Amino acid sequence: MKVLFISPHYPEEMQEFTRGLSEVGARVYGVGDVPLQQIPSHVRRYLSGYIQTASLFAEDRAVADIAPAVRHLGLDRVECLWEPCIELAAKLREQLDLPGMRYVDAVAFRDKAIMKERLVAAGLRVPHFARASTASMVWEAAERIGYPLIIKPIAGAGSKDTYRVEDPKGLQAVLDLVKHVPEVSVEEYIDGEEFTYDTVCINGVPAFDSVAQYIPKPIEARSKEWISPAQIVLRDPHIPQLEPGVTLGKNVLVAMGVQTGFTHMEWYLKPNGEAVFGEIGGRAPGGKLVDQMNFANDFDVYREWARSVCWQTFNADYKRRYHCGAVFKRAIGQGRICAIEGLDEIRRQCGPWLVGLNLLPIGSPRRDWRNTLISDGWLFVRHPDYATCKKLVDLAVSDLRIFAR
Ligand SMILES: Nc1ncnc2c1ncn2[C@@H]1O[C@H](COP(=O)(O)OP(=O)(O)OP(=O)(O)O)[C@@H](O)[C@H]1O
Ligand SMILES: [Mg+2]
Repeated sequence: MKVLFISPHYPEEMQEFTRGLSEVGARVYGVGDVPLQQIPSHVRRYLSGYIQTASLFAEDRAVADIAPAVRHLGLDRVECLWEPCIELAAKLREQLDLPGMRYVDAVAFRDKAIMKERLVAAGLRVPHFARASTASMVWEAAERIGYPLIIKPIAGAGSKDTYRVEDPKGLQAVLDLVKHVPEVSVEEYIDGEEFTYDTVCINGVPAFDSVAQYIPKPIEARSKEWISPAQIVLRDPHIPQLEPGVTLGKNVLVAMGVQTGFTHMEWYLKPNGEAVFGEIGGRAPGGKLVDQMNFANDFDVYREWARSVCWQTFNADYKRRYHCGAVFKRAIGQGRICAIEGLDEIRRQCGPWLVGLNLLPIGSPRRDWRNTLISDGWLFVRHPDYATCKKLVDLAVSDLRIFAR
């Protein structure tokens, strides 16, 4: 089994997927835009080869570089779990005549309007929306859809350039803020809680699925610095309250033509119990959610993803034992981290349920909270009981404080 894996070291969790591929017996050929020497040595040792291209983002050029360089290898698969390179992976598969997601499907995962059009055609509930590339198209769509609205890029990530708009005055202001975005999606604002539906599928059927709850909704967490974003991977997604979202999720997998690999969907649960689609990625979720799945199930889903794509089997007898919460902390103040408060008490109250902790050490420069979910540190807690897990999450949200000066 020979796998071409795009970006084996970045973002950081790709290093674990690279390890997984190697551990299930694949020969892994990495593709990246940095020299091999810049790939950390603990990742390099899993690689049987490496192809450097000038840019992963100039797709056609990258295909022209990579395809001739790998043709002689007799590859079995091209895999990619990093959002901006999903289309490159599909183009390479087509060029090399390998199985897996085709370009037309990859585009549907990347372009939020095409994505929603597919789902509407399948009769699934998505927010009313329109695609707009000029201000007058935005005004026309807003008129038709009504307020409140969401304005966001057609191919967005990390909630960048995403705004809630209350009325025409707000729309005028947001139009100025999104001038640099070539095309936006104008959408009905869906009120409700926000969840994920994540899977590892084998031939279109989930071999593993998982639901996480965002606390609060990402749009709020990403727009207010004082918030500590949190998320809980729920122990068992197959409970009545989540049923509308899980059913929607399974129908979305079919409509999107998912084959084998990770998927990451977001959905809203309205106060009336209705589930509404948010978006779906043909890749693993970022933001530590994969690690949380591991803590919730005591397995190694990095490796089982690899086994699924290489050998079409998922070999973990997952137990669904725990809810696993993550809390991301943003320092108060600017400059360097100078103090951490509340940690002893959190350790005391969590006891063995504190399963991960990674805070920037005193003296390090704080990070720009707008560009990183991980922020200035994170912690993981887990517990078999939801109320206890949520209590520990809330404790870390309110009582763990990092200061910068
Ligand atoms: N139609 C909508 N109704 C309500 N909230 C929305 C809507 N569209 C987007 N949002 C909010 O904005 C956030 C970001 O939107 P979306 O997930 O589509 O973009 P993204 O930039 O790809 O996100 P990310 O990479 O952070 O997952 C959502 O998580 C949600 O909180
Ligand atoms: Mg999103």
